Amino acid sequence: MSRIAYVNGQYVPHRHAAVHVEDRGYQFADGVYEVIAVRDGRLVDLAPHFDRLDRSLGELDIGAPMPHASMSFILKEVVRRNRVTDGVVYLQITRGVAPRDHQFPTDTTAAMVVTARNAIPKMAQREAGIGVISTSDIRWKRCDIKTISLLPNVLAKQKAVEAGAYEAWQVDDDGYVTEGSATNAWIVTKDGEIITRQADEAILSGVTRLAVMALAERDGITLIERPFSLEEAKAAKEAFLTSTTSNVMPVIEIDGSPIGNGHPGTTTRSVSELYERFANSD
Ligand code: PDD
Repeated sequence: MSRIAYVNGQYVPHRHAAVHVEDRGYQFADGVYEVIAVRDGRLVDLAPHFDRLDRSLGELDIGAPMPHASMSFILKEVVRRNRVTDGVVYLQITRGVAPRDHQFPTDTTAAMVVTARNAIPKMAQREAGIGVISTSDIRWKRCDIKTISLLPNVLAKQKAVEAGAYEAWQVDDDGYVTEGSATNAWIVTKDGEIITRQADEAILSGVTRLAVMALAERDGITLIERPFSLEEAKAAKEAFLTSTTSNVMPVIEIDGSPIGNGHPGTTTRSVSELYERFANSD
């Protein structure tokens, strides 16, 4: 079966899917994106993805190319045409095509691309837990915007892979963990409280993070939004990370030091089960 992509109003074979060389996404990373999980053919937790997309577009003053209902139709259509049952759908909106000039063009409409693919669930890693390394957070001061400008994230992830780790936790100038290259970071204290950094301009407000916060609070797990240092994380009882593609993933090692007893902890397991129930029934 050949893959299909949506590119600016047309469904095209994936191998022919292309944008203009003067698309501002290509030249300036002048655009935003969303990655939405697909489970059993359904889009998981779509509404908060649209909320975040609107916010990212608004912060960059990019006009939405169409209303949510039309976008939703296209996302589902790309999922359907590619026969995606469990995987992800990717949506990218750039400021559009214009002669290269840094300032915003005045007469350009936003360009939109959608792709989708199946992905193998990371069951074994979720069962055993994964290792992360730490790295300096060298990103800009607006990490709350989900832009396609991801080079520091790419470098961080590559560093993790080269170290045999799953993810890199980025650390700010004050020694506090901000987030992973494509995931939010969490720790569990000795008292069983779950801690994640507040969603300010230093991190992306993850849709999975928001779901986990609501589910944990409903379940009576104490949640605290505050920065935590790398030292605190290494001494934590448990740690985990969250994202659309990793779900709730236990972290059992940071920079080679085991977290807690070096196995996924009970609070992480509870949070993961709450999330799985939610995502499978959403
Ligand atoms: N990444 N932080 C960053 C920097 C991210 O890029 C992501 C998502 C997250 C988690 O957000 P969410 O729970 O909404 O997926 C946090 C996506 C999956 C990616 O770039 O592939």
